[in-house]
Amino acid sequence: MIKTIARYLRLTVLAAASGSFALTANAQQTVVTLKPGEAKTQISKNIYGHFAEHLGHCIYGGFYVGDSNKVIPNTNGVRNDIIDALKKLKVPNLRWPGGCFADTYHWKDGVGPRPKRPTMVNTWWGGVTEDNSFGTHDFLDMCERIGAEPYLSANVGSGTVKELSEWIQYVNFNGVSPMSNWRRENGREKPWDVHFWGVGNEAWGCGGNMTPEYYANEYRKYATFMTDWSNTSKLFRIASGANGGDYHWTEVLMRDIPHDMLDGVALHHYSSVNWDAKGSATEFSETEYAKTLKTAWRMEQLVTKHSAIMDKTDPDKKIALVVDEWGGWYDVEPGTNPGFLFQQNTMRDAMIAGMTLNIFNNHAERVRMANLAQTINVLQAVILTEKEKMILTPTYHVMEMYNVHQDATLIPLAFKSPDYIYGNDTIPAISISASKDKTGNTHISLVNIDPSKTREVSLSFDGATFKQVSGRILVSAKLQDHNTFEQPDKIKPAVFSNAVLKGSQVTVKLPAASVVVLTLL
Ligand code: AHR
Repeated sequence: MIKTIARYLRLTVLAAASGSFALTANAQQTVVTLKPGEAKTQISKNIYGHFAEHLGHCIYGGFYVGDSNKVIPNTNGVRNDIIDALKKLKVPNLRWPGGCFADTYHWKDGVGPRPKRPTMVNTWWGGVTEDNSFGTHDFLDMCERIGAEPYLSANVGSGTVKELSEWIQYVNFNGVSPMSNWRRENGREKPWDVHFWGVGNEAWGCGGNMTPEYYANEYRKYATFMTDWSNTSKLFRIASGANGGDYHWTEVLMRDIPHDMLDGVALHHYSSVNWDAKGSATEFSETEYAKTLKTAWRMEQLVTKHSAIMDKTDPDKKIALVVDEWGGWYDVEPGTNPGFLFQQNTMRDAMIAGMTLNIFNNHAERVRMANLAQTINVLQAVILTEKEKMILTPTYHVMEMYNVHQDATLIPLAFKSPDYIYGNDTIPAISISASKDKTGNTHISLVNIDPSKTREVSLSFDGATFKQVSGRILVSAKLQDHNTFEQPDKIKPAVFSNAVLKGSQVTVKLPAASVVVLTLL
């Protein structure tokens, strides 16, 4: 933020000196300078990734209802309505099978004839029996249907190097080998060509309670035996990353792991009122709202500081920062299993999503992948299910509105946001990111997290002119508003017509607590 403000001041001074600062901003207006001429960094579509763990009803009762289910339309047990919704979202990648679950998972238990698959106990999430009926083939075939690249999270905590190297051979090798032959026997001739591989998860915690030095050595060992079996793509190996602001973790990984063995370093950060008293997902005060948004805004500082550490040994930014778990985390819905992490999703979550995705876009040089936790029925889900019913959450709509940024070129911008102050908490009220897509259209996503003030924003484009502006908005009367199975469309995107284009300038009136995406042609 400090950097952004400094840059803003520099741009403002430059613009004023050259006489090109044509805006007559009023005191209430936020003036934003965009530099389309300086656009060079691609916003990787993989920033818009999702995460599906064997946790509660994300997989079982979420994606997967079993192939004998005659009530809910499905293909090989995976719900058709969910596939359709995720295709519309343009999900670029999907992380599986965990999370903490990944470091207890033994992939061989989940392939071959279902009746012969052993069961296990899901020790992290509710102590339920995992019957392994949804396994590697089910997940990878499902990704193909969604059009998402799979991101497999491997077991380092309780697994073996052999197990991982055989998993890669099983899913990626086209030649003759014990594992590829076994895959064929199990009904899949061609390999799936899985590119993204996570080497453990939260190795500092549920993944083994390791020190960064110990984990770095483990990583080196595992990575050594991760053979590129595929002819078409090299493996993209992602190290288990820091817990929020544990900068030492990133420092050690970047120092101790040879960079030619490392493609991405992960980072996890969740937003909540207070980690020990998270509060209700739907019944929260403005104090709780402000505190949650403040922890969400902390993402800006986290990616800035972790990136700066990575810059020291990787100035060319070859290694990606992969935020493979993020989102809001509240108390479970009353009456539901505490180990299942089922929570509703309100306009507060829409604010978190819009703000966080703007942060990722603006850091696209280093943040090249991210995964919202989690896709269905768990934490900040995009879809909730109840038997045959399915609803899309406000977070779904934000991610759908923002998918115009996928693989587009980031347009640098500078501005000073007014503050949203509530109680002891001060947070920038407005967040913005902008990009130009392959067809030449410019898209700008704007969020006003202030729940009581409309904010006027003036966008100037350094001389670039446009013929027309259109927009979509996500807004609702109250922050606590959410979609329910009885009222599934209470919150959905609507046409936004409060953006006025005059030559090279657009003036936008952003309603309180709203997310807007503009398209400029
Ligand atoms: O997303 C839920 C859990 O949060 C994941 O299993 C774990 O990695 C994190 O602590």
